[in-house]
Amino acid sequence: MPNLIIDDREIEVAAGTKVIEAAARLGIMIPRFCYHPALGSVGACRVCAVKVMDGPVKGIQMSCMLDAADGMKVSTADREAVDFRRAVIEWLMMNHPHDCPVCDEGGHCLLQDMTVSGGHGIRRYPGRKRTYPDQDLGPLVQHEMNRCIHCYRCTRFYQEFCGYRDLGALGIGNRTYFGRVASGRLESPFSGNLSDLCPTGVFTDKPSRFFGRRWDYQRTPTVCIHCSLGCHAVTSVRYRQVARQEARTSAAVNGWFLCDRGRYGFFHTGLPGRPRQAAVKGETTSMDEALAHARSRLESLPPDAVAVIGSPRSSLEALAATERAARVKGWRGPAFFADADAACKVKTAAARLEEGLAVSLGEIGQADLILVAGADPVNEAPMLALTLRQAVQKGAGVAVLDPRPVSLPFGFTHVPTAKEALGAVLGRILKKSLEPAGLEGPAARFRASLPDSPATGAEVLDRTAEMLAASRRPVIVCGTDIVAPGLVDLAADAALLLAAAQKKAGLFYILPGANAFAAGLLAPSDGTTDRILEAVVDGGVKALVLVENDPFAVFPHRKLLERALSKTESLIVLDYLDTPLSRRAHVFLPTQTLFESGGVFINQEGRAQYSAAAFAGGTPVLETGGGDHPPRVYGTGLPGADPQPAGHIMALLAGDAIPAEMKRRQNDCYRSNPQLADLATVTAFPEEGMRLASKNPSKDRFHSDLSSPAAADPNELEIILAERTFGTEELSTYSACLETLEDEPFAGLHRTDAEP
Ligand code: SF4
Ligand code: FES
Repeated sequence: MPNLIIDDREIEVAAGTKVIEAAARLGIMIPRFCYHPALGSVGACRVCAVKVMDGPVKGIQMSCMLDAADGMKVSTADREAVDFRRAVIEWLMMNHPHDCPVCDEGGHCLLQDMTVSGGHGIRRYPGRKRTYPDQDLGPLVQHEMNRCIHCYRCTRFYQEFCGYRDLGALGIGNRTYFGRVASGRLESPFSGNLSDLCPTGVFTDKPSRFFGRRWDYQRTPTVCIHCSLGCHAVTSVRYRQVARQEARTSAAVNGWFLCDRGRYGFFHTGLPGRPRQAAVKGETTSMDEALAHARSRLESLPPDAVAVIGSPRSSLEALAATERAARVKGWRGPAFFADADAACKVKTAAARLEEGLAVSLGEIGQADLILVAGADPVNEAPMLALTLRQAVQKGAGVAVLDPRPVSLPFGFTHVPTAKEALGAVLGRILKKSLEPAGLEGPAARFRASLPDSPATGAEVLDRTAEMLAASRRPVIVCGTDIVAPGLVDLAADAALLLAAAQKKAGLFYILPGANAFAAGLLAPSDGTTDRILEAVVDGGVKALVLVENDPFAVFPHRKLLERALSKTESLIVLDYLDTPLSRRAHVFLPTQTLFESGGVFINQEGRAQYSAAAFAGGTPVLETGGGDHPPRVYGTGLPGADPQPAGHIMALLAGDAIPAEMKRRQNDCYRSNPQLADLATVTAFPEEGMRLASKNPSKDRFHSDLSSPAAADPNELEIILAERTFGTEELSTYSACLETLEDEPFAGLHRTDAEP
């Protein structure tokens, strides 16, 4: 391990560490434009110059390109190094438009910071500046090419890191242009990261353009809730309005980036039509009156004539309060999932993610073979696709078993597999890849019970099995959307079997919703939306309480839903969205969004993370003012601040009037669930969250039922509803800027099914 001295301070670092990183570990931030920890070094900007006084090389060197070496002595403050860096800034500013007063990057611009801190103030060069035309890159990213300093961060991220080709470096030398061949929307679903990465204002956030400076915003660490991965974000709020979402670094989850669904999916929180007042039979009223009305409606019925339906988009606090309210009042439910299969898959996943087997998104980046069964990463959990690409860049192989035409931004093996055959194909790959000799006991018996060679597609399966056999750190990724419940168990058994074969095996599920893991732990075993709606149709249930659930968006059986709603005598809806149900509710109780209430979300690997409240709520100033300044709304409170956290409202419906009492009861609820018990004593969440491992380790126990699934009826076609990155996730469909990115609806049919 090299031991070196930087600015008279000694440090030992791992071999291969660059001097710029070694200095950062000592707290010395050497200026940089092109270097980025996620993208590595390229040596393009020359602003990281240091002087090496002693060591294998001497003199001015680029610290981002130089490996730390034993005995090296580095000075960042030597006059020659300081003058070099100052000269670089002056050259870069020669062509820069100096448009900081109207540039959205102003206030968090690396170029601005370096220019000011380097002491450059007066432009000495009297010539004309180089200029470029800008392009329209679609609804998310604004392009202002004149501000470019040619650091190549954008194109390295876009092409090398993400694997998309429609944006790149065009032209040559001093005229190099970073953009597309022609104007047009960026194709990558990770394009918004360009705004975070660009060290000047070439790529800025289009939806928040001209809305505020960095110092105007209240900035809060939050968690993305647009899929089950729970990426870390920073939310910027101004004028009671969420204006912008940026990536927050997390080694365990999303690294440095966000997908565009997560970045731009927040607009539901400040929409002009958002219902912010309680209502009884469509007439707005106070929260207290609406609550009293709801309570009297519910109390007039026998408890089992009331049913509760919640959803995985609620915080853990809301889910726990919903579960408790149903339990103590004797109401049916709560249902958090559409049907028994959906609930079973999530419960199984939560139970089987045990310590030592469950891997984080960050750990997938270290795998050498990832076998994806029944999942479409770009569409179901976009940042997983980006992480898989990083693993592939390091030499890993990826194989996807899925019936859909899965597309990923890197080369991979697609094994097109009918939904009902996923288990058999996964089993065959496993059996073929593992020698019986290395296994004993239950693992050997389980391997022996796996199906043998395939009837068709032998070649691709053999190739996948060979990759698996050669791997040392394989990860099984399993979807829970289109797959049968048995596959969720088989995925865990596959990981166990690989671990028994002396591999460092990992298991990773994708779940249906940001808090599906928590909902799976709290859901009673028999309460699902379809059964509750059937009970309404049969007349057993008269009142429905819907907690942050719009079944028109998430429940697939529309006819059953319509019939049930037509027979519901009391419909009580708690939500922050303007949905068909919030409009037809007998009692509507407005809830706060996550940005207003804060809350805990447990991601698909069982990582409980706290998303802080970003602001106190209220109608955005732009809406109350109607364009007038200052807004002419008089009163002592915040306008539009009636909404309350769904958990509070459910506690009040259940008769828990005091929030402190509610907290105590919530903790009782956590304690009664072994996997949630650790949360009852948490006072502050660690930044990377807390892993809640399964308390039922299944080591050496294999659960899969390998009996052949019922063969599909050749005269019937099954419709598989497939997720898309944009347009199917409920909350982000409220973001107008994402609308134009939605695919046209389409139906796909396999060639053999299409034959007459
Ligand atoms: Fe949000 Fe999922 Fe995208 Fe991460 S991958 S930013 S959690 S939608
Ligand atoms: Fe080292 Fe740009 S940061 S050359």
